[in-house]
Amino acid sequence: MAETKHTDIRPLKDRNKPKIYIETYGCQMNVNDSEVILRIMQDAGYVLTDNIDEAGVILANTCSIRDNAEQRIWGRIEQFRLQKRRRNVVIGITGCMAERLKDSLLENHTVDLVAGPDSYRNLPEMIKAVTPDNPQINVLLSQEETYADISPVRMDRNGISAFISIMRGCNNVCSYCVVPYTRGAERSRDPQSILREARELADNGYREITLLGQNVDSYLWENGRKTDFADLLESVADSVPGIRIRFSTSHPKDISDKVIETMARHGNICRHIHLPVQSGSNAMLEKMRRKYTREWYLERVGRIRSVMPDCGISTDIIAGFCGETEKDHEDTLDLMKAVGFDSAFMFQYSERPGTLAARKYPDDVPADVKTARLNEIISLQNTLSLESNRKDVGKRFRVLIDGTSKRNAEEFCGRTSSNKVCVFSAPGYGIGDYAEVVVRSCTSATLLSRLADAEE
Ligand code: 5AD
Ligand code: SF4
Repeated sequence: MAETKHTDIRPLKDRNKPKIYIETYGCQMNVNDSEVILRIMQDAGYVLTDNIDEAGVILANTCSIRDNAEQRIWGRIEQFRLQKRRRNVVIGITGCMAERLKDSLLENHTVDLVAGPDSYRNLPEMIKAVTPDNPQINVLLSQEETYADISPVRMDRNGISAFISIMRGCNNVCSYCVVPYTRGAERSRDPQSILREARELADNGYREITLLGQNVDSYLWENGRKTDFADLLESVADSVPGIRIRFSTSHPKDISDKVIETMARHGNICRHIHLPVQSGSNAMLEKMRRKYTREWYLERVGRIRSVMPDCGISTDIIAGFCGETEKDHEDTLDLMKAVGFDSAFMFQYSERPGTLAARKYPDDVPADVKTARLNEIISLQNTLSLESNRKDVGKRFRVLIDGTSKRNAEEFCGRTSSNKVCVFSAPGYGIGDYAEVVVRSCTSATLLSRLADAEE
């Protein structure tokens, strides 16, 4: 296995090798999985291409979280199949849809290969074994696989910010969610391999690391002594002091005082927690099997803010879950106001076959009501984001520059520790630099800033 220092973590370029094209959908975990897949394929002699027309292997690393995610991917698979008319190409589906839809994906030979999230080590052999009459499938889920020994090949463009998976799978049984079925049981990864990967990123010039897990607070490694998530966070922060650390996702039932205090003690752990609430109604939370109440959630938020007043808090919200009444919806709006989230991802409930909710509760909120409630939630969040951003006007922040502004390529953009996007002009600076900025004005999405030492 590759050792820390000179591991080549950027995609190989070699015109003469067979080419693989990878399209990634869904969460950050999936982005990181594609990087693991690329390492496995590179080691087997392939190189990455972003030109689908020259690829011998086309993979879609897929997501099943909502029906619209899957529909979009089905559309893409149809387009991939057009490639087959022109030449001999292997079309493969990896990730969550592979796990959920194995049979329909192989029906009528729609694709050549179906590989679930725990079978990526076998991809090279599977691809080799594909023939027109012999599609390959491996959707076995594992209790152990964490790909701990595989150094992901980083596909991001900026070389600044990278993900490290610290665990896989999920042991929660949120009734709406397909993830425990597609990604299997929760397993944590050896902390030594996580630290090695963090140092490898530091050696390669990365400036920000995001530790990933479906529920990072339940990270646990036992090897004589126990390492919980707070311990891991501390070791990572100490071992790469020049690097900013983020993590996602926290679960409100599990986020501990120890984690909050560990964050507060380390200047290089970003002051941001993504804490999905899903609903502000206790009746809905119970039906969703989230295992906390709105009171508990508000207490956790209070705790975070009492220890770190400047900590950004973002969330996920589902509108129109089974049996949701107008009063339940009002409770969600009310909780959003009580917390004053800095930002949120907001969705309409989408029934996922096989989940507890699909089996037990009718998906009975009419589509137009779901849409209206979601719109109300989005509109309230815009107001809350704007209010939160307005409080930052006039304040000074240390920002890691991670790209140029979409609107004006002369300007940089970057994020504050609290995960807010700043846009500013900074002559002489480059991507990967830190800049001290002062916020001049804002929109609900952006802090319009200037360099702290620049003339007004
Ligand atoms: N319908 C709508 N949104 C969902 N999410 C998870 N499952 C569903 C579903 N069936 C949302 C949750 C979760 C985020 C990743 O996706 O808010 O936190
Ligand atoms: Fe990620 Fe969930 Fe989508 Fe799978 S279903 S890719 S775990 S968001």
